[in-house]
Amino acid sequence: MNFLVTGGAGFIGSAVCRLLCSKPENHVVNVDKLTYAGNLASLRSIGNNPNYTFVQADIGDAPQIGALLRQHETDVIIHLAAESHVDRSIDGPSAFVDTNIVGTFQLLTAALEYWRGLAGSRKAAFRFHHVSTDEVYGDLPFDSGIFTEDTPYAPSSPYAASKAASDHLVRAWHSTYGLPVVLSNCSNNYGPYQFPEKLIPLGVLNALHGKPIPVYGAGANVRDWLFVEDHARALELVATSGVPGESYNIGGNSERTNLHVVKTICDVLDRMRPKATGSYHDLITFVRDRPGHDRRYAIDAEKIRRELGWRPSETFESGLERTIRWYIENDWWWQPIRGGNYAGERLGLSTEPTP
Ligand code: NAD
Ligand code: DAU
Repeated sequence: MNFLVTGGAGFIGSAVCRLLCSKPENHVVNVDKLTYAGNLASLRSIGNNPNYTFVQADIGDAPQIGALLRQHETDVIIHLAAESHVDRSIDGPSAFVDTNIVGTFQLLTAALEYWRGLAGSRKAAFRFHHVSTDEVYGDLPFDSGIFTEDTPYAPSSPYAASKAASDHLVRAWHSTYGLPVVLSNCSNNYGPYQFPEKLIPLGVLNALHGKPIPVYGAGANVRDWLFVEDHARALELVATSGVPGESYNIGGNSERTNLHVVKTICDVLDRMRPKATGSYHDLITFVRDRPGHDRRYAIDAEKIRRELGWRPSETFESGLERTIRWYIENDWWWQPIRGGNYAGERLGLSTEPTP
């Protein structure tokens, strides 16, 4: 099967490329613009594989995407390219509108033209899989509620609003033009190769460097965590076996408060890498809250379990331990990022102490 993966140099996209390329019957074309979040080092293990091709391109360049679809006789598009970090969307929403909304529109335009030119079984089998987020559903109370595929959209942040808009465009291309799309909405991912601006890798690396581990507000906000390789398996299933026009929620059934997450990171590090004096817990620092901070996300993943037979293989505890060990053993991957004064760049928003 010929896959075209957008955003394959990012955190989840690289896990998808590694998974798909492990099967010799697949060919993967990875189309990525290489923004600050794109990193070819994450693809080192498959970079020379005969069934893998990298193309640096913008999803907004519809003529180039159309040419790639034809050249590589694409069967399935898995669309992950996006601006993905909520705090950056608050600081500067423009890139989120450009890539997540306009970029997805351009990609749909190229995909529709390509699909219309296909014939017979290849036309029937073509899929456009749009990878989205649980953040489109908005804010849940701490003590009740869960997101199903029928939960109304109520995005809070510019990031979430841009993803919601792109979901609506994808569904409209199905209803109006018949493009065979599938969608998935996933909860918070964590694992190897995640850019260290997100809570878990930031917490691990700041701890290892003896820097404050920033916790927004009181750390009471709840996220539902999923190990990235479990998400990649789910995406492969949705892309290849999902029903056109349908959406699938994906989650780890692992709700944890942010404070619990950072305390668990500190517990694991105290065991794996004890400090000469004191505990990593001493580094936990409460800072100014994120504006519009959604209290809680929780995913009902029953549909993908029932219809496609997917379930996560890692618990939060086993996945977190694997993740922390990976960051300890793979400084070749994160040293160049941290060396670029990344930590300083975000200090303004994330590590102001609570007033
Ligand atoms: P990421 O920020 O790590 O990677 C995004 C990738 O997209 C990067 O490689 C970047 O270079 C590329 N990209 C950005 N703009 C582009 C453009 N215009 N053209 C081509 N490539 C471009 O993101 P991630 O965390 O891997 O998330 C991937 C997708 O999954 C996103 O659509 C995100 O909304 C969604 N998602 C993420 C999570 C999560 O917890 N990280 C959860 C649910 C859904
Ligand atoms: O729910 C899925 C979403 O998960 C994806 O769509 C997004 O692309 C992805 O970035 C992630 O969004 P979050 O905002 O939930 O992830 P982040 O790691 O930024 O934050 C997780 C929680 O931790 C959130 O409640 C904010 C909090 N936080 C975050 C950072 C960076 C802190 O307390 N301190 C921090 O320094």
